[in-house]
Amino acid sequence: MKDNIKRSWAEPYKMKMVELLKMTTPAQRKKALREAGYNTFLLRSEDVYIDLLTDSGTSAMSDRQWAGMMMGDEAYAGSRNFYHLEEVVKNVYGYKYLIPTHQGRGAENILSRILIRKGDIIPGNMYFTTTRLHQELAGGKFEDIIIDEAHDPENEFPFKGNVDLDKLEKLIKKYGAKRIPYVSIATSVNMAGGQPISMKNLEELRALTKKHGIRIIHDMTRVAENAYFIKEKEKGYSNKSIKEIVKEICSYTDGATMSAKKDALVNIGGFLAINDRDTFEEARNLVVVYEGLHTYGGLAGRDMEAMAIGIGESVCDDHIRARVGQVIYLGEKMTGLGVPIVMPIGGHGIFVNAKKFLPHIPQDDFPAQTLAAEVYLESGVRTMERGIVSAGRKSNGENYYPRLELVRFTIPRRVYTQAHMDVIAESAARVYERRNKIKGLKMAYEPKYLRFFQARFTKL
Ligand code: F0G
Repeated sequence: MKDNIKRSWAEPYKMKMVELLKMTTPAQRKKALREAGYNTFLLRSEDVYIDLLTDSGTSAMSDRQWAGMMMGDEAYAGSRNFYHLEEVVKNVYGYKYLIPTHQGRGAENILSRILIRKGDIIPGNMYFTTTRLHQELAGGKFEDIIIDEAHDPENEFPFKGNVDLDKLEKLIKKYGAKRIPYVSIATSVNMAGGQPISMKNLEELRALTKKHGIRIIHDMTRVAENAYFIKEKEKGYSNKSIKEIVKEICSYTDGATMSAKKDALVNIGGFLAINDRDTFEEARNLVVVYEGLHTYGGLAGRDMEAMAIGIGESVCDDHIRARVGQVIYLGEKMTGLGVPIVMPIGGHGIFVNAKKFLPHIPQDDFPAQTLAAEVYLESGVRTMERGIVSAGRKSNGENYYPRLELVRFTIPRRVYTQAHMDVIAESAARVYERRNKIKGLKMAYEPKYLRFFQARFTKL
């Protein structure tokens, strides 16, 4: 008999403990927002109802991870948990050598200092804030080689994280391979809306870089989510497991920086993983300057244990299907209510197209920053600006003007329910209804580095 009933995904876990939330009134939110200088990063978490600022360090750990926390071996040197983590990174990702760091940017700092010389060019599939800044601080210059489709929020190409190989070849021709220490490749490209890179594109990139002797360094922060899209959308992968796909992705690269606060389901932690022995030796030396001894890198033993267990959970098919399934549920609900979002829906959040949402606000008046503030005011949902404020300034002081002016509704892993998703979509839709009355912002304080974190604004 033919089965016509839809098969829904559901979470492969149940709740054992809940965290109570504070509900706020519109008057309280108005006050909190003013005090925070209209920057959602400066709100107190207690004043937030549903926190979609980031998926970074905000996941719910499993009972097994919490049990692992109790197995922390808090030795200064040679903790048992380090060796467990090392084994898991080798098994799951296939990289040879591991340097733990306190989080992703710790690994970016060490790697950039080792591989980048002044005047070097680092091509990458769209910038990420901390990654690009570390490249620049080391004397390098980032060059965007992502396909053009990635800069168009309405283009529905399924692999908008892909590299445009022609753009890379032009850079190699212009600067010479010697001035390109590595190509910086993110899986699930964050700033493009959590867009995946295809395996085919990675394979071709490997072939091209190999010809020129250029390394590929993988920002593997959300590699499992990328693997899910390869399984769903790329020919030849539907019968492979997420674990197999993740390992294959890593096999085309020479090393990786990881913010374990995302995919790996921990609240703090990261690492640098590398296949080349010399780079590893240098990194092992540098890590003691910036993070801590090479067997803990700024983490407690218990943190490394939770990470080792979390990595295993992150590559389970049922986990990732429910994780991305929830994000897609929210995205479909929002589009159903008319809210303009980046398409296709990515892996870690919904990116609302602020340029289309608030077309009357020019980019210099910060449409995405404004929209994030309005969404908080509406319902206590906290989101993050990913537009001109996040893009910051070039080394000559000029503003970057990114084509994407977005507000990210980032979904923490294993934290919120489908009913929360409904409330979030309805809040965005209510702001959309009154969009014509919304006015922009003026920047009142601008920090020198990564200004989006601490900038303050006033209402126009
Ligand atoms: N790379 C990517 C792709 C990231 O998304 C992040 C962090 C990092 C590197 C840096 O890692 O925070 O552990 O130092 N992204 C967070 C976010 C902050 O909200 O997207 P970190």
